[in-house]
Amino acid sequence: MPVRVIHTLAELRAALSGHPRTAFVPTMGNLHQGHLDLVRIAHEHGGPVVTSIFVNRLQFAPTEDFDRYPRTLSSDVEALERVRCDIVFAPDEHELYPEPQGFKLHPPAEIADILEGRSRPGFFTGVSTVVHKLFNIVQPAVAVFGKKDYQQLMIIRRMVAQMALPVEIVAAETTRAADGLALSSRNGYLSPTERAEAPRLARCLGQLAVSLRAAGRIHSAALSELETAAMRELEQHGWAPDYVAVRRRRDLLIPSAPDEALVVLAAARLGATRLIDNLEF
Ligand code: PAF
Repeated sequence: MPVRVIHTLAELRAALSGHPRTAFVPTMGNLHQGHLDLVRIAHEHGGPVVTSIFVNRLQFAPTEDFDRYPRTLSSDVEALERVRCDIVFAPDEHELYPEPQGFKLHPPAEIADILEGRSRPGFFTGVSTVVHKLFNIVQPAVAVFGKKDYQQLMIIRRMVAQMALPVEIVAAETTRAADGLALSSRNGYLSPTERAEAPRLARCLGQLAVSLRAAGRIHSAALSELETAAMRELEQHGWAPDYVAVRRRRDLLIPSAPDEALVVLAAARLGATRLIDNLEF
């Protein structure tokens, strides 16, 4: 069956009525294999599978790339057809925000104003608001989010728990190119030289994880030494790092015990492109 492309809330609600196991993949379009993997996982958890494509102005700062963010609806629909997505929900801005979105969901500062939120103030308010709204519209039983956006995933999980939303959040592993670069819509901004350099980010995180485990002890001096060394390595190769940070997986706070499940997260600019990545270890 060809994928059905729906632009309005009314049509979507009609199409989904009587479907108690809708599986949902929210995206901003310009899809790559990582998104298609989310759709594949969604199929394992329910159906019909709905993928939304909406570039959400609320999560972009005025200085960010909202206007130049690639809008590629027809090729996205073709790709979604290949992975048997059932419905593409692609509302225009006026459909999703018929009036200025005065009601917003503000996640708590301790999870939203660190790491990505520190570099991008208001980002997680924009994400939480649109995801909450999309959940209200789609009413999925399950929604799939990639670990590539690790902090986003953690915040969505908290939102769902604290707001008692009846949706199961499924986390999907990051899809990587053969050279290790995490797939991202923003990779398309990279020049050929930058693309060749970009896998260093993932390599730095891998090296840091190995060094930290080899050190065997988690104490703040060792952590910040390794984080600083990783940032220096990136700088030496032309990057402008925002952060490299080792955190506890469960709440992204600074770890204190050696047996905690950890993740190292990083964001760095390569030329005009800001890339993020993370590694659980
Ligand atoms: O991860 C994204 O693409 C976006 O932040 C999301 C979840 C679709 C909300 O706009």
